[in-house]
Amino acid sequence: MSTPQAIAVLGGTGPEGFGLALRWAQAGEIVIIGSRDAKRAQDAAEKIKQRVGASAVISGEENLIACAAAELLVLTIPFEGHADLLKQLKPAIRPGSMVIDATVPLAASVGGRATRTLGVWQGSAAQQTAELVPKGIPVVAAFQNAGAELLNAEGPVECDVIVCSDDPGASQIARALATKIPGVRAIDGGKLENARILEQITALLIGLNIRHKGHSGIRITGLPDAAYKLA
Ligand SMILES: NC(=O)c1ccc[n+]([C@@H]2O[C@H](COP(=O)([O-])OP(=O)(O)OC[C@H]3O[C@@H](n4cnc5c(N)ncnc54)[C@H](OP(=O)(O)O)[C@@H]3O)[C@@H](O)[C@H]2O)c1
Repeated sequence: MSTPQAIAVLGGTGPEGFGLALRWAQAGEIVIIGSRDAKRAQDAAEKIKQRVGASAVISGEENLIACAAAELLVLTIPFEGHADLLKQLKPAIRPGSMVIDATVPLAASVGGRATRTLGVWQGSAAQQTAELVPKGIPVVAAFQNAGAELLNAEGPVECDVIVCSDDPGASQIARALATKIPGVRAIDGGKLENARILEQITALLIGLNIRHKGHSGIRITGLPDAAYKLA
């Protein structure tokens, strides 16, 4: 697949999607914030423009319109809305596009604890996405362990983003996008089935944040520099 032109961050009015959209707008990417409400999306885009400056190429649209206008779709919505939103979006997903899923199936979605994950029949939220998108659309799991607090703060985000996908080209694009966030190193985490582990680590990080009052992330040690290089 070719390098995507526009990034639609669906659910980008929430802290995780807003933080990613902010960082990519700062890096000069074309970003569209998606929301169930166009006005909420436009307000979020305006806030990012105020932070980044007039050079930011960012707009806000209702999710379906944002999806139809972009080649790279990033899902940052709570798990309770995940399957329904994907079913709505399916007809608008353009051939040749790809999906990056940052969704974590936290038990909080069904009234449980944010320090636990739900069992997802397909294995993970990202694998559920792979089942719900049109045939041939690659799905990548990434950013589950990159916390919103750090994305929305000033300064570098000191963490590794582990990227899992069954499509090497899509994984490469997602890793390139991750490294546009200052401080982030991106690493190929293998097949999409490993998304289950990424999603569970988030629940652990939330527990650490509560216990130790911080904003934790992960860094992998002991790998050669080549592990972080894009092909
Ligand atoms: N927060 C973090 O630090 C963090 C870190 C890593 C991963 N994540 C994961 O990233 C996702 C987003 O996190 P978040 O904290 O930004 O979540 P959030 O604030 O709860 O939700 C993000 C946005 O999703 C939309 N939304 C809410 N309920 C929805 C539904 N039922 N159907 C469709 N859209 C809905 C809302 O936008 P509109 O009302 O404007 O449509 C909301 O602003 C979650 O799956 C979370 O587990 C979060």
